[in-house]
Amino acid sequence: MTERQSIHGQWSSRLVFILAATGSAVGLGNIWKFPYITGEHGGGAFVIVYLLCIAVVGIPIMMAEIMLGRRGRQSPINTMADLSKEEGANGGWSLIGWSGVLAGFFILSYYSVIAGWALAYVVRAGAGTFTGVDAAGIQTIFNDLISDPERVLAWHTLFMLMSMFVVAKGVKAGLEKAVTYLMPALFVLLIVLVGYAMNTGYFVQGLEFLFTPDFNKLIYECEVVAGLEQCEISGSPVLVALGHAFFTLSLGMGAIMVYGSYMPKKTSIAGSAVLIAGLDTMVALVAGMAIFPIVFANGLEPGAGPGLIFQTLPIAFGAMPGGHFFGTLFFVLLVFAAWSSAISLIEPAVAWLVENRNMTRIRASVWIGLTTWVLGLGSVFSFNIWSGDEFKLFDRTFFDLLDYLAANIMLPLGGLLIAIFSGWIMKTAASQDEFAMRPAGYKFWWNLIRYFSPLAVIAVLVYANIPLIKGLKVLLTSSMISSQQVIGIV
Ligand code: PFF
Repeated sequence: MTERQSIHGQWSSRLVFILAATGSAVGLGNIWKFPYITGEHGGGAFVIVYLLCIAVVGIPIMMAEIMLGRRGRQSPINTMADLSKEEGANGGWSLIGWSGVLAGFFILSYYSVIAGWALAYVVRAGAGTFTGVDAAGIQTIFNDLISDPERVLAWHTLFMLMSMFVVAKGVKAGLEKAVTYLMPALFVLLIVLVGYAMNTGYFVQGLEFLFTPDFNKLIYECEVVAGLEQCEISGSPVLVALGHAFFTLSLGMGAIMVYGSYMPKKTSIAGSAVLIAGLDTMVALVAGMAIFPIVFANGLEPGAGPGLIFQTLPIAFGAMPGGHFFGTLFFVLLVFAAWSSAISLIEPAVAWLVENRNMTRIRASVWIGLTTWVLGLGSVFSFNIWSGDEFKLFDRTFFDLLDYLAANIMLPLGGLLIAIFSGWIMKTAASQDEFAMRPAGYKFWWNLIRYFSPLAVIAVLVYANIPLIKGLKVLLTSSMISSQQVIGIV
């Protein structure tokens, strides 16, 4: 086969690809989402399942996405259409690309709202608002922000404009450079925060929460109703851990595939995937180690939800020497981490518009940005005027619903299809040629992608959704007091 060329250009080196893909992977998912969902699902056991998912599902699927992208050298929609033709398979495989574009819209629409909170915090930190702040004080600051739709909307708009700007300019000109300096700086600053957390006196408690597994927490979800803790069997924590593995590595929607399509031919795919996943995981764990000691030291609730880092880290900055400067810098870097992820959420759709509709990158970015901005209004309002029960569906706000659907359903399903295509549809000669790995390494990946990864995803999706489990839930809830005694959960 003659090698395809991308019309969009190519990364200048392996390092640039690694930085860009790490920039996509490391974002709000690591610093904002990982701590709060870990807090909501009780810590240790959730973290273990998440790490397992990264290792045995995430890394093989990341390798597959990079491989498919580099072979197809186009937007994920066209890459999948061409590769399936090449394999004599049904053109319907381009559905992977379409569902990816949709998931990208969904995710970016709320991602931009949360990144907007981070932008607002840059100003607050810079103005010294956090100096000497206590738990109650920061709660008020946070609530004042999110309950004001106009303010949140303004920040959401600014973040979306920033993302559109970079994508319009082309990835090479702006972001390549920024990512080179900002990612290492963010990591160093997280380590500084861990240093602070070590001195809170609650560091060990934080570590225990993160790493001591209580597997009951994966099987039962409990909430306190009228002073009584009610528990029900639920597959949801396992699904959330799997979904987060996809979300944090930017998998299942074509973001890594499109980045792979700009990758130089000679670069090792396996080595790059392990490195990117390793860096991403490290950032999440370090963020957890910084945040939970502060949570416990201030009597805060680990399950506080999406506001968790916004209600904890300012306390640390407010109390530490140089906190005014470090706090501002931290939120600036958080915005950059979100920024480098946001552009990868738009890139698959923009690449497709440029390829198929003959649009300029600028026009394509404006269209995609505008559509996503409108969808984002739902998430802006989810924390204020639409936060009431009358606006909820399945007990979830618009924001919760989009996040659940995209991260926990669409990304794992996209990943599943990618695994099936590269393990079962693509000829081994083709994937072997693209990977250029030693036979033992290739065989290992091949077994994972053909059997293990798809089965793991199917098992989790089924486990989280089978009616049998749902039936059990109802049964347990209706005889709650006795079931609590039977299963011994208090
Ligand atoms: N991986 C990003 C994060 O952890 O913040 C979010 C993300 C980016 C998800 C790109 C999906 C994606 F395609």
